Amino acid sequence: MYTNNFKSEIVIESPGRINLIGEHIDYNGGHVLPAAINKKITLKFKKNNTQNCQIYSANFKSSFQIDLKHIKRSQVEWQNFVLGVLYHIDVLKPNSLQGFDCIIESNLPLGSGISSSAALECGIAKGVSALFDLKLTDMEIITLSRDAEHTFVGTKCGIMDQFAVVKGQTDHLILLNCDTLDFKLIQAKFDPYIIVLLNTNVSHNLASSEYNIRRDECDTALEAIQKKYPEYKDLANIPVKIVNTFKSILPEKIYNRALYVAQENKRTLKAVKHLQHQDLEAFGKCMYKSHEGLQHLYEVSCKELDFLVKSTKDLDYVLGSRMMGGGFGGCTINLVHKNEVDDFVQNLSAAYEEQFDIQLTSIQTTIGDGTKTI
Ligand code: GLA
Repeated sequence: MYTNNFKSEIVIESPGRINLIGEHIDYNGGHVLPAAINKKITLKFKKNNTQNCQIYSANFKSSFQIDLKHIKRSQVEWQNFVLGVLYHIDVLKPNSLQGFDCIIESNLPLGSGISSSAALECGIAKGVSALFDLKLTDMEIITLSRDAEHTFVGTKCGIMDQFAVVKGQTDHLILLNCDTLDFKLIQAKFDPYIIVLLNTNVSHNLASSEYNIRRDECDTALEAIQKKYPEYKDLANIPVKIVNTFKSILPEKIYNRALYVAQENKRTLKAVKHLQHQDLEAFGKCMYKSHEGLQHLYEVSCKELDFLVKSTKDLDYVLGSRMMGGGFGGCTINLVHKNEVDDFVQNLSAAYEEQFDIQLTSIQTTIGDGTKTI
């Protein structure tokens, strides 16, 4: 099955995502500004008329088999993205799945915070839906992929990644209200600046456990504030000045988390206004502020990310820079003048290597379409 004579019935392309601003607030009902990118996973499917699936990863050069009657968690992390999606499709549409073979090939770097996991989950869901005519809606694909991550992978992620991966549109950012799931497409007009990702090539294993801890801390803050202000149903929509009144009431750490979330939500909406008015400088400043909050109040950054962001501060051809995604490694996202990109990457790579003895990788992306059949 793994060679050239694989006769695909369905081929899906499923992209990674970036996020310009609005970090760690999707699970707090806040606004986020992600987009799908032009780097993606390609998935080829064909039916095999059995009750088993053969899944082959061309990148890992390894395959595994799934018995559809007994879908259970695996010890191998990437397999759980596939298993979790099939499990949740079966929950939603019992007994609708049949056996299939699938080849997965990716040009998304793993563990770099551009959500290769959501790309894989949504790609599997979309492909299986097309193969067996399950007619899964976009929202079903988005939510069941998110649920797969909660149950099979154990990360209590928000909805941003799956939403961006499925709903992305070329040259547009998605302003998503994670409370109502209403969204608006915003033109990504950054010219003469372009988006450059710098991959720290570290992914600290704190990422998943600390992620879930942040969620719990936010719940603690919300519950405490709701005792006095029951009208607020999520943390991101509590005005900063109300959060401030809890400074001497909540434990410092819990207060800081709440303050960051309320500020980041406001900042995201402000940043979108700046973008719409073509005030790119002000947009970039919001990115720096976002990083400050993530570093000091929300504490999901790490020394490698902080070093990269700090190193851009004196460069007049960089408008903004911040860590992107869950944190504790992965990429920074930078708005860099298009004429200076080579210098930018060279200088930062040299400085980074000297500091940490790790090679930096740069990723230039454009904004592409969401998961689609080709
Ligand atoms: C991960 C999660 C998202 C989101 C980001 C942080 O990528 O999957 O839901 O919370 O972290 O903004």
